[in-house]
Amino acid sequence: MKVPNIIIAVDGYSSTGKSSFAKLIAKDFGFLYLDSGAMYRAVTLYAMENGLIDPDGKVDAAGLSAALDALDVHFEATPEGSRTFIGGRDVENEIRTLEVSSHVSPVSAVPQVRDYVDTRLRLFGKSGRIVMDGRDIGTTVFPDAQLKIFMTADVDVRARRRYDEMRAKGQDPDFESVKKNLLERDYIDSHRETSPLKMSPDAIVLDNSEMTFDDQMKWIRKVVQERFGC
Ligand code: DC
Repeated sequence: MKVPNIIIAVDGYSSTGKSSFAKLIAKDFGFLYLDSGAMYRAVTLYAMENGLIDPDGKVDAAGLSAALDALDVHFEATPEGSRTFIGGRDVENEIRTLEVSSHVSPVSAVPQVRDYVDTRLRLFGKSGRIVMDGRDIGTTVFPDAQLKIFMTADVDVRARRRYDEMRAKGQDPDFESVKKNLLERDYIDSHRETSPLKMSPDAIVLDNSEMTFDDQMKWIRKVVQERFGC
């Protein structure tokens, strides 16, 4: 299948398998995969390490905004895919802990943080052939993306997936805490003032609660064939 030079936006709730699906799409179509959540996670890690989140979880929005000018968060392509860096430090693993997950939604609700990340994400849009996952890619980052997918799945299925993923990485999470974190993030992400998680009217919904990766790839190939005639 010869896929044209398009941008594919994959948005949706936490742990719906957006990144796994987007990675598979990138591999199959020969596209670059970019995980926008990783940038929010890296900014969150920076805030945690620099005393910009107090013990109650309150973000020092003014302090963080002031620090953004000098903060270098970026992606680097490696043979295994893109990795996230703060300056010269590879933080790809550190940004996936439950501690970072529990602070990332309030950090990503700070408007200056959203501007910071959006500016960096849009640099990748120039040449097309990218698949980017997140919460507002189809609504705000790339509103002109030629294909927008909105992913959803049953919350227990999602919590189980995230739990298994963390265990596979050697962490030892508590299932109920993982589920609680998902629900909290869904709520904050959908109710923040700036660029909340919501479905773009031109997005296609994919509920993958009962789908395998193989099912999902068959689904996307069919969508792309029908829409772009390739
Ligand atoms: O996809 P993820 O779970 O790694 O994303 C982490 C957080 O980053 C998510 O809870 C909300 C925020 N995020 C966002 O606000 N907008 C995006 N485009 C991507 C992520």
